[in-house]
Amino acid sequence: MATLEVLKFPDPRLREISAEVKNFDAKTKAKLKKLSEDMFETMYAENGIGLAAPQVAELIRMLVIDARPRDTKGRYSIEEMSDLEKSVTQPLVIINPVILNYDGKTTFDEGCLSVPTFFETVERHKNIELQYHDVLGEKKILKTDGLLAIVIQHEMDHLDGTLFIDHLSLIKSNKIKNQIKKHGYPEKKSHEDGDEEEEREL
Ligand code: CO
Repeated sequence: MATLEVLKFPDPRLREISAEVKNFDAKTKAKLKKLSEDMFETMYAENGIGLAAPQVAELIRMLVIDARPRDTKGRYSIEEMSDLEKSVTQPLVIINPVILNYDGKTTFDEGCLSVPTFFETVERHKNIELQYHDVLGEKKILKTDGLLAIVIQHEMDHLDGTLFIDHLSLIKSNKIKNQIKKHGYPEKKSHEDGDEEEEREL
């Protein structure tokens, strides 16, 4: 396995529309498996909870996700998950995702490995029903809510060249984009007091 470089805004490749995976022949499946392993390694190394293939410059409609809550020691604490979230096995590889149904609204303080150190509240669908292919090309359907539903919607945006900062008010969005373009990214905050919960990027 290998860790991959995560593209950062304003890299223009993050604005591309990624291509559907059209066939799952043996050669393609081997490539998808290797890419998914490298994406997981990259995501975990960066302490992220989701990563889309275009964030590592592979312009295909593929996501990897592990949004299981973890405590400060990195142990999974699944009792914080909803029953619907628990019903979905994670980590997840999702290819060619399509939202079939949705309802309700929810908000979350989102961040992104491609826009590091910035966190802003974004509104998403609360419940989603998703159709996708797994890494073997099997067609699947899942229903979920909670953080998992939020991460899926955030990562799906990457497949169409959209970033979470595009969902903010125009004033706030332009302020962040101009700040990054002018000054780059600030140093990651170090939590010296040690008891502040680390924010996880998507
Ligand atoms: Co992101």
